[in-house]
Amino acid sequence: MTASRRPTIGVFDSGVGGLTVLRALLERIPAADYLYFGDTARLPYGSKSAATVAHYATGAVHYLQDHGAELLVIACNTATALAFDPIRAASRVDVIGVVEPGAAAAASASRKRKVVVIGTDATISSHAYQRALEAKGVSVREKACPLFVPLVEEGWVEHSVTEQVARIYLSEAFSQDASDADVLVLGCTHYPLIKPLLRRVAPDHVIIVDSAESTAHAVAEQLRIEPLHLRDESERRALPRLKFFATDSVEKFKKMGTRFLGRSVEDVVHVDLKE
Ligand code: DGL
Repeated sequence: MTASRRPTIGVFDSGVGGLTVLRALLERIPAADYLYFGDTARLPYGSKSAATVAHYATGAVHYLQDHGAELLVIACNTATALAFDPIRAASRVDVIGVVEPGAAAAASASRKRKVVVIGTDATISSHAYQRALEAKGVSVREKACPLFVPLVEEGWVEHSVTEQVARIYLSEAFSQDASDADVLVLGCTHYPLIKPLLRRVAPDHVIIVDSAESTAHAVAEQLRIEPLHLRDESERRALPRLKFFATDSVEKFKKMGTRFLGRSVEDVVHVDLKE
């Protein structure tokens, strides 16, 4: 897709976590408008089956397309890992998930060709990151960190309990033959919020790859909007229009979303997706 005018990008996630991906997109691609769908009534996806996640996600991406999305970003690592193919098959527009960009960034950052990936139970059990990285000649240690999502949602991003949990998870992840892995992939929407804590806890030699940032980079490439001076001056100066859809409480989405997005979340509409 060539961005000859201001594009409308649809961003899908199981809840508010994908706002970390939207945040990265806004930084890298301000000359676009965004529709964000958070399936807050049905989260977490990280403990659900592939069939259920595919069913939920395809309903949401149809909704985004019907509301004008011209490109879809699957911000949810779990949905990308479990259901990228069915989502793409159900879409009329291009779809970018978070796994491939995260794996590509990790592969180019790793000198040892050895990477640790952390994510939800479902993402890790799917081995989607492992497959993507092994295809690039990189060996992988995967580690599910299911306690991080509730801790981050609780707001405990700099809490001693979270730090203790991180020490346990990362010491298991970087044990034995993975002790010399030199890249840590944050394979979950929530983890960018605890990146400073993970930086302190991870071995010093390790580079942290944030799949949210890698995905924003991939979207920019896809839109071919680098360099931005290719765009019309007035379009470039206009602020991005943001519209949010949530399947659970609008108020809760606004409150929690503000923390994940790093700016206030205003235009939220409640959506009831029929089963
Ligand atoms: N968005 C999910 C992910 O990135 C985390 C939250 C959930 O389990 O729904 O894997």
